[in-house]
Amino acid sequence: MACCFFSRVDGLMDSENAANSKEFYVSAANAAEKINEFISKGLFIRVVSHLDADGLTAASILAKSLYRSDALFRIRIVKQLDEGLVEDLAAEGVSPLIFTDFGSGNLDLLKSRLSSNDIVVLDHHQPLGDAFLTLTQVNPHNHGFNGAQEISGSGVAYTVAKEMNASNVDLASLAVVGALGDSQDRNPKRELVSLNQTIVKDGVDAGCLSVENDLTFYGRETRPLHKALAYTTNPFLPGLSGEEDKCLGFLVNLGIELQNGGRWRALNDLNADEKQKIFSEIAKLLSSKRLPNTVTLSLIGAVYTLIQEDRGTYLRDAREYSSLLNACGRMDKAGLGISIGVGDRDRALEEAQDVFTNYKKTLAKYMDWITTTPNVIDERDNIYLLNGRETINESMLGTVTTIVISSNILVKDKPLIALTSADNGMLKISGRATPVNIEKKLNLGTILQEASSEFGGIGGGHDVAAGAQLPEKFADDFIQLVDQLVGSSLNEEA
Ligand code: C5P
Ligand code: ZN
Repeated sequence: MACCFFSRVDGLMDSENAANSKEFYVSAANAAEKINEFISKGLFIRVVSHLDADGLTAASILAKSLYRSDALFRIRIVKQLDEGLVEDLAAEGVSPLIFTDFGSGNLDLLKSRLSSNDIVVLDHHQPLGDAFLTLTQVNPHNHGFNGAQEISGSGVAYTVAKEMNASNVDLASLAVVGALGDSQDRNPKRELVSLNQTIVKDGVDAGCLSVENDLTFYGRETRPLHKALAYTTNPFLPGLSGEEDKCLGFLVNLGIELQNGGRWRALNDLNADEKQKIFSEIAKLLSSKRLPNTVTLSLIGAVYTLIQEDRGTYLRDAREYSSLLNACGRMDKAGLGISIGVGDRDRALEEAQDVFTNYKKTLAKYMDWITTTPNVIDERDNIYLLNGRETINESMLGTVTTIVISSNILVKDKPLIALTSADNGMLKISGRATPVNIEKKLNLGTILQEASSEFGGIGGGHDVAAGAQLPEKFADDFIQLVDQLVGSSLNEEA
């Protein structure tokens, strides 16, 4: 199978609908004007964002832009936008609020408790509820774009930041980190497309980003090659993912030099022939497991490099950067993630690396449990159900669900609904769909929203990745309803 490494990825926009994008940019300019108005009035601005990589980069982009404009502001990072949070914000008094990477799915909640504040929502989740007088919302779905693929929360925040001040264009690379954190590169070329491509082009033009096609092993800058291979879970490589020793043996058998002058070589140190050799051997392995060609091809794709970051650090490759931030958010160190996002290095980076190490250990433990314990994943009529109760921490459930669905082995064809216990007798749900489900127009965001609201919960998100929280006592009924809704949606389209 032929592949070409090091080819440049074209930054041209090919799929963007010009008329819709114009509307989208006008709405971003309106929001920017609103925020600049808060600043010029000397108002205290409260920024609230989500704890994943996209939420942290969105908040970092705003923090940088507000700081550069001498604004008074505070950043708060939370795991979800719920009643408890809006009560807290209401109790703080009246001052402008900016929600990034969430908010659109909770417009009624914002209206009911916070509408005496000026509210700016910069989000890419499917909107739900009605607009209201004090709301300024920027959301790609309102202009015919799919927020799961075409722009992320940090992309929306960046677009607004650029309108606030053109000098914020250097923040484009953070938006690329956020988009990759939200897996917006879910396409065979692992490329960011549409509105995201405009941001990539900004980053390249600003001299902070480069893009090329290469092997997408996880950890291309920082990891010894065998570890990078072992940590690659997207795609999941049977017999290699999670298996460092086997990866070491695999590479040694291929005759790849793993060290140079006593130093472990990273993927970036390899020449094109060596990369081609590795690719061909993995392709053979995947085909022997009867995995579709698309899985093999997804080993090669667009690689986004933050060229102003030092080589060999976690911040140079945009996917590694997003994982580092995701780890900070999920391991209760969101503040550290923001410090990195706004430019802290040295001690902050060292600390984040330690957090990342613990995070990876925790993830590996969960994956080991899932792959070795019988009946953790139960196949229902139209969904797979992963029961993570008493094992998987609620903050990590989404990440685990993403890894399992992308394995193509642990589950096949049907969407995966994972659950675990959360605080106060609540259940946390994460749902992920396969590309084939999405082609058939399945929308997990709508389904989880509808099903959770039947049982006094909240839910929503994207067609391909969604979540919900609801009282534990309704778990069985909820799952049954989700199974049924997924079935009717998929059969409707069949
Ligand atoms: O928590 P998890 O990673 O599974 O969430 C998947 C997606 O669904 C995320 O983008 C998250 O923000 C969104 N979500 C939502 N409303 C919820 C729970 C999750 O919009 N109640
Ligand atoms: Zn997001």
